[in-house]
Amino acid sequence: MKPSLNPTQLLALTRQHGTPLWVYDAAVIRAHVAALRAFDTIRFAQKANSNIHLLRLLREEGVKVDAVSLGEIERALAAGYSSRKGESGIVFTADLIDRATLARVVEEEIPVNAGSIDMLHQLGAVSPGHRVWLRINPGFGHGHSNKTNTGGEHSKHGIWHTDLPAALAAIRQHGLKLVGLHMHIGSGVDYKHLEQVCGAMVELTRRLDAPLEAISAGGGLSIPYRTNDPQIDTEHYFGLWDAARREVGQILGTTPHLEIEPGRYLVAESGLLLTEVRAVKQAGKNRFVLVDAGFNDLMRPSMYGSFHHISLLPQDDSPRAEHATVIAGPLCESGDVFTQGEGGVVQTRHLPEARVGDLLVIHDAGAYGASMSSNYNSRPLIPEVMIDGDTARLIRRRQTVQELLALELEAGR
Ligand code: LLP
Repeated sequence: MKPSLNPTQLLALTRQHGTPLWVYDAAVIRAHVAALRAFDTIRFAQKANSNIHLLRLLREEGVKVDAVSLGEIERALAAGYSSRKGESGIVFTADLIDRATLARVVEEEIPVNAGSIDMLHQLGAVSPGHRVWLRINPGFGHGHSNKTNTGGEHSKHGIWHTDLPAALAAIRQHGLKLVGLHMHIGSGVDYKHLEQVCGAMVELTRRLDAPLEAISAGGGLSIPYRTNDPQIDTEHYFGLWDAARREVGQILGTTPHLEIEPGRYLVAESGLLLTEVRAVKQAGKNRFVLVDAGFNDLMRPSMYGSFHHISLLPQDDSPRAEHATVIAGPLCESGDVFTQGEGGVVQTRHLPEARVGDLLVIHDAGAYGASMSSNYNSRPLIPEVMIDGDTARLIRRRQTVQELLALELEAGR
């Protein structure tokens, strides 16, 4: 589901908060949550978008959360999540745990989804009895780009499947409590790989010597970035995992709880990046439209060659001819282009003529947009607005340049 765009409202928001600006539509997020209700637990991979207000909205919808760093744990706590007294509102998933995070997961009783056996030893040494998941690398993976494929021997993620006995031994050695098995083989699902993962999960449980409360399907559900991309069939997706869960239940004698851990699916389509056209120029055969957002704001096209639909929000209703257009940002690199393919090849889009002062809307930017932004070129982080029905609320203000300089200035001369 895509946001229903109200150009007047979007223009008003940019007048109020300036550009570039992130805008999210709460109704779209709720609709995506609803499509996954068949799962016992929906656990949001907050790396996709960790704004505290967005996390609160998801908590109110009954969604739990995953954290991959101390910062993400603190965000989840600030949004009202808790893991105390067995609640499991937050699970910490990573391949290593640093000392500060270890102290905090112990203090907050946050279950740890371990991607390495070293994590189990380090946790067990200070918190025997702690609840743990095992993130298993089944030996294969799949992703929309090599950079987001998280399974197989080229991936650093998870405990290698043949190391399961050693992981179970570490759990026994420290008296840790095994909660569940987890697999996430990458971002950008296809059903062939999905069936393979379900099969791998069933095979793993045959080799268990301990009971299991839950299994997690990981994340990776794709969304239609291009007009002709299919919407994922969440019923089919659930059906495959439900069947795997039943088989696991037969092996273990009790049917485990079924979790899913999407990031992109829940929030990507809700988000827009609004940016103003500040210059238009011709370079040989290429017509460049330069906007005030850069890859420091939305990194996906530069990082993965990802496609985002882009539309024009003109400042007036004068007729506009169509042009093949390259859309680029303000940064000091030629890779700062929103219309490019994998490997950085500059591409054009057919767009109505964009003029200085018009707005461009970059769609499907709610996941891995704001959360991957940086201060490159000393550009402050940009504001975020949440539209919920008739109200639009600023959920993060624009960072100031002064705030950027402060960490260095406080060091004195
Ligand atoms: N669970 C684990 C353990 C993960 O590592 C990830 C994503 C997810 C769940 C959620 O995956 P999703 O449902 O969002 O595909 N920056 C890239 C995506 C990186 C994903 C990293 N891990 C992008 O912009 O496409």
